[in-house]
Amino acid sequence: MISLLKPKKDYESSNKFVDFFSGIFTYLFSVHFWISLFFHGNPTATPSFLSMSFAAVSFVVGCKKMRSGLRWATAEDLNSGPQSLLSQVFTKERFIPISNFSSNPCAVLRKLWSEKTDNHTRVQELHQNEKPRSRNSCKRAKDMANLINYKPWSNQLLSSFTTLLSKTNVLQTLRHIKEPSKAFQFFKWAHEMGFPHNAQSYFMMLEILGRQRNLNVARNFLFSIEKKSNGEVKLEDRFFNSLIRSYGEAGLFKESIKLFETMKSIGVSPSVVTFNSVLSILLRRGRTNMARAVYDEMLGTYGVTPDVYTYNILIRGFCKNSYIEEGFWFFKEMTSFDCDPDVVTYNTLVDGLCKAGKVSIAHNLVNGMNKKCKDLNSDIVTYTTLIRGYCMKQQVDKALFLLEEMTSRGLKPNVITYNTLIKGLCEGQKLDKVKDILGQMMGDGTFVPDTYTFNILIHAHCSSGNLDEAFKVFENMKNLQVPADSASYSVLIRSLCQRGDYDAAEKLFDELYENETLLSNYGSKPIAASYSPIFQYLCEHGKSKKAEKVLRQLMKRGTQDHLSYKTVIMGHCKEGAYENGYGILVWMLRRDFVPDFEIYDCLIDGFLRKDKPLLAKETLEKMLKSSYKPKTSTLHSILARILEKGCVHESTSLIVMMLERNIRQNINLSTENLLLLFGSGLRDKAFQIIELHYKNGYRVKIEEVVQFLCQRGKLPEACKMLLFSMEHHRNIDIDLCNSVIAALCKINKVSEAFNLCYELAEKGLHQELTCLNDLIAALEAGGRLKEAAFISKRMPRVQT
Ligand SMILES: *[C@@H]1O[C@H](CO)[C@@H](O)[C@H](O)[C@H]1NC(C)=O
Ligand SMILES: *[C@@H]1O[C@H](CO)[C@@H](O)[C@H](O)[C@H]1NC(C)=O
Ligand SMILES: *[C@@H]1O[C@H](CO)[C@@H](O)[C@H](O)[C@H]1NC(C)=O
Ligand SMILES: *[C@@H]1O[C@H](CO)[C@@H](O)[C@H](O)[C@H]1NC(C)=O
Repeated sequence: MISLLKPKKDYESSNKFVDFFSGIFTYLFSVHFWISLFFHGNPTATPSFLSMSFAAVSFVVGCKKMRSGLRWATAEDLNSGPQSLLSQVFTKERFIPISNFSSNPCAVLRKLWSEKTDNHTRVQELHQNEKPRSRNSCKRAKDMANLINYKPWSNQLLSSFTTLLSKTNVLQTLRHIKEPSKAFQFFKWAHEMGFPHNAQSYFMMLEILGRQRNLNVARNFLFSIEKKSNGEVKLEDRFFNSLIRSYGEAGLFKESIKLFETMKSIGVSPSVVTFNSVLSILLRRGRTNMARAVYDEMLGTYGVTPDVYTYNILIRGFCKNSYIEEGFWFFKEMTSFDCDPDVVTYNTLVDGLCKAGKVSIAHNLVNGMNKKCKDLNSDIVTYTTLIRGYCMKQQVDKALFLLEEMTSRGLKPNVITYNTLIKGLCEGQKLDKVKDILGQMMGDGTFVPDTYTFNILIHAHCSSGNLDEAFKVFENMKNLQVPADSASYSVLIRSLCQRGDYDAAEKLFDELYENETLLSNYGSKPIAASYSPIFQYLCEHGKSKKAEKVLRQLMKRGTQDHLSYKTVIMGHCKEGAYENGYGILVWMLRRDFVPDFEIYDCLIDGFLRKDKPLLAKETLEKMLKSSYKPKTSTLHSILARILEKGCVHESTSLIVMMLERNIRQNINLSTENLLLLFGSGLRDKAFQIIELHYKNGYRVKIEEVVQFLCQRGKLPEACKMLLFSMEHHRNIDIDLCNSVIAALCKINKVSEAFNLCYELAEKGLHQELTCLNDLIAALEAGGRLKEAAFISKRMPRVQT
């Protein structure tokens, strides 16, 4: 991703008015006033001048903000390099694009250079073969689009237009419909009305579906084009390009590549645009090897000639992935294709070199460019990139020299240039120089400080331990209505914590929460880690709820870190609010964080102490999913408490889970669970569980279970238990068998009684039975003479 952005050209012309006023106001505003604001917080000006100036400045700041858009290097650009954790956190936070204000959000999105390339190809393809439109059809298209936009859809809605559908107005209508699903309906409707869609309208529909991220539909649509058009429209590369790009933009890298392969396999030749899209997607994912292969395929297999975009994509991608030499190799390769590098090519290389710390080589490259080609001149991006490079190397003098050179060549530094320089100066401890620069810049009205500028100064004062000054800057920021962002707050809060002034830190933290600064899209994206000192303080002092509220705001912005989660969960545990802690644990898991053992242990322990074994069990299940092995004693405690509460399903599922994971069983608990199962009438489940125990080498107290069953009059179950026990070669309690057989006879369950007796006889244990006479009588009464004879034969001799 390119780090610096060109100032928007259109802004210069469309905002003459604002600039005019900003000029007047800034002129009125003495340099002295600004400097005193920054450095002493107490301008020596008369009150009436002050209030007027504030109004003026707020107006100017406001206007400039509205159109400043994305202005700073992206986070990923600048957070490489060895740095301490704190400074890393800080740098990361400050380097993210500051302002997201724009009257036109698309313009902000389009600014990134890579997207510019895509934009280029999209636009090119979109306007391919398009004929000039007539005024009439324009109007008709707008009328149709308005009907569709503002009325509920029905086929009648457009019936009056049926005969007037033409190539141009169908396209234009599609373009003007706001909702993609309605556009698709219109497309289908026109088809049904007999309008022959052409390649252009199919392409446009595909683009619309892609933009809506309705990619499955888009894919089906793509492969139905030939059939829908009765073979009139052939599948051509740009249809595939469109979907490949849409997959890429949706982050579905693999789908992009798959479609690229499909395209080739069905014989649609990829064009330079296809290759550019694929290369750009691959390199964004760091797949340099694959990109190399695709490039070779492009030249070798398909004989496609690369264009300047191809090379810019390649150079940028390789440099971004720290392959600067390869970047240069492609740079040289360009000339063999008669492809002249443009300023973007140079800027890309310069950026790669600067990030690799090779600023002087970059500088030489730029000098070479200026000498070599008359048409190529360093632009504001070139200069700003170099200035940043020098600033990062703490060579501020060279940076200042470049600023002068830039101005002398008629290039107007933008706010990024200034902020870069100010940051460099602050880091080089040259605060005096900052004063000069600020004075100079603001004196001629070219520079209006923004949130980022203030943040640099706040940070500089904080790092030099001058918190009072930092707060003055913060106050001035508020006075000038430059909105504070997360970075402004987090530095101050952290510095206050470091100094031990927790009350003041907490106050600021409250303000941060109440103003919902973290929720606003303005400014840098918050970094959860930067709040960890205040989280720690709050959670150790019984204020975990407060910390949690801010943590939620951070999560809403999609930013979080392991430590903040842990701090807040442990804080809740300390306060006995285990459920709250558990709630955060669930969030944490949903966001793919792995809580550590201590968190789980603490929560489970807490739930057991608070007599909430079911929650303890839920926590335990999550713990197992995180691949931790809890202590067996913990599992047994949970199980015992669940059994005490008589929760049969939960205790059973816990036992099954333990068996599946080979965790040792406690015979007392297993037996208790069985009693619970039988007691709840879950007979089949109970036998299943017993089987499972024995299969895994564990036992239950069968006698206890049988006695329980007898007491409850569940004799068939008792009999089955005894049979099961014999099957597993267990010593059998003959007295127990005796009473079960006798009882079975009494209730006329003779066949069960006989089965048990038969099994005992097989083992030669029947001799000790005292109930045989009763059994024979019962069998005879039931007409089972054969069985009766079987028993009779085996009656012990003494008694016959
Ligand atoms: C993208 O395309 C639009 C036309 O649809 C054009 O106006 C705009 O300038 C292009 N943006 C960039 C960054 O190239
Ligand atoms: C933030 O809140 C404080 C007091 O709670 C208020 O004075 C200040 O104006 C607010 N700032 C913003 C930017 O809303
Ligand atoms: C900018 O704003 C848009 C919508 O307002 C949002 O989707 C996007 O995430 C924001 N970007 C940043 C970097 O905050
Ligand atoms: C089961 O309970 C008995 C007493 O009720 C006890 O002696 C024995 O140690 C317990 N067994 C296990 C494994 O806890």
